[in-house]
Amino acid sequence: MAEQILELKAFSQVTDARWYPRYHIAPPFGWCNDPNGMCYYKGQYHFFYQHYPYEPRWGPMHWGHVVSDDLAYWKHLPIALKPEEAYEKGGGCFSGSAIEKDGELWLMYTGHLQASPEEAEAVGFPHIEFQCLAHSEDGIHFKKSEKNPVIEDIENNEVSINDIRDPKVWEHNGKYYAVLGSRTPDMAHGQILLFESKDLTKSWKFKAISARSDGNLGGMWECPNFAEIDGQDVLVFSPMDLRTDDGKFYYDKVAGVLIGKLNYNTGIFKHGDFQYLDKGFDFYAPQIMETPDGRTVMIGWLDMWNVDMHETRDGWAGQMTIPRVLGVKDGKIISTPAKELEKLRKWKPITLENVVVDEATSFEGVSGEAYELVLTIDAEKSKKFSIALRASELEQTVLSYNSNGTFKLDRTKSGEVINGMTSVREIQIEPKDKLKLHIFVDRSSLEVFINDGAEVLSARIYPKRTSQKVIFTPENGVLEIDSLEYYKLDFGIPHPHIKDTLVDVTKEFPFLNK
Ligand code: FRU
Repeated sequence: MAEQILELKAFSQVTDARWYPRYHIAPPFGWCNDPNGMCYYKGQYHFFYQHYPYEPRWGPMHWGHVVSDDLAYWKHLPIALKPEEAYEKGGGCFSGSAIEKDGELWLMYTGHLQASPEEAEAVGFPHIEFQCLAHSEDGIHFKKSEKNPVIEDIENNEVSINDIRDPKVWEHNGKYYAVLGSRTPDMAHGQILLFESKDLTKSWKFKAISARSDGNLGGMWECPNFAEIDGQDVLVFSPMDLRTDDGKFYYDKVAGVLIGKLNYNTGIFKHGDFQYLDKGFDFYAPQIMETPDGRTVMIGWLDMWNVDMHETRDGWAGQMTIPRVLGVKDGKIISTPAKELEKLRKWKPITLENVVVDEATSFEGVSGEAYELVLTIDAEKSKKFSIALRASELEQTVLSYNSNGTFKLDRTKSGEVINGMTSVREIQIEPKDKLKLHIFVDRSSLEVFINDGAEVLSARIYPKRTSQKVIFTPENGVLEIDSLEYYKLDFGIPHPHIKDTLVDVTKEFPFLNK
């Protein structure tokens, strides 16, 4: 481990901790995108991610690796997969999943062979994708299978051979199944393919095109995941190439679910309408796993493609969300923070009850750059109000609510300007007498869970380190807070070499608590 870190350090270093998360998973150096292979193996949670360890930009993909005993505290492990084989030349080891079989941990991933311009000219396409396996006896050192690739061209004229990736594997009634993201050859319809195997490790059979866009849900579906949640079959995926000009979608890539029933005989998934998993700016390619106590936990990439990531100047790029537990309630997907995160509440909380404010107000100690805030607000009496986070004279990220159900996240003045996407997101929520907010702030990110996970909004922000205030402002009379709980959160994932520079700014600048 130490040798590997030293080797990597030569290429890339985190030079400033101002935006580096305290308790969210992020790469120790370089770049990360999708979560991969999240699983529980030999008593620990393993989490991998798409990683380019040499520079803070996308490059040939490796699998970064972290491990945890409890989903709250994580530690970095050596890189699990590196692009070394012919079938992953150029693009590397793309996304995939993990499963335990006979005591070994198996990773199933996509080898992305990226042709050079000359090769592309000769063969007529820029890239081709293969499904591959790697396995490990200790969950740390992985060996690629000699059988790779285990899925090649399936010779189906409704499936593009260029874009067929991101296998999610699971076991059902003694057989193994995998869903893959894909598109039709004309690139008009995203779709999910189902494969079946008796042995997992040797041969895989194409079963069916399980689900496909009706023409309104994008030209490619990436990163499928599948689970039974609260008695429903749930297909998680990330459609891309969505049309946004008709105002139907917020961005041309989003992540969400279809809820329905998978017929294991035909391979067809019957489902209802698409639902978002997160309506914020930055949420993509989530991965799910089952915990030993039967919950479905999800972690997503808390970023979005083609949008400014200012941390690249500091030598790193990209971070994950907190672990969220998925549920289905009245046909709707809900996600709530995993209860394990309460372990990070290392300091005494600040709690307030029945507070009425009639002007912009901050509460002593309720401030900072890495904390959790749990609020119940009397929405009936408060009508219209805002909460500014990471605020100072110059900057603020603003949540605002109007009791007609309009909820807004505004990062226009959050700090460094984020180009590539709009900076105001407005959603409609079901108005209730009480508005419940569960907010996680961590240096350069914000996750807001509304009304027990009925809606979630996630965003990256790039404030100055000293913008730490939380300001409550009634916009129409008074703001009545039934209860407020504030928890400063511990370092959940110590960085291997910038540890000493991760300072508690509230100690450094005590006046910030005033
Ligand atoms: C989604 C994605 C995946 C692919 C990976 C490559 O963000 O495009 O489909 O496996 O990123 O890094």
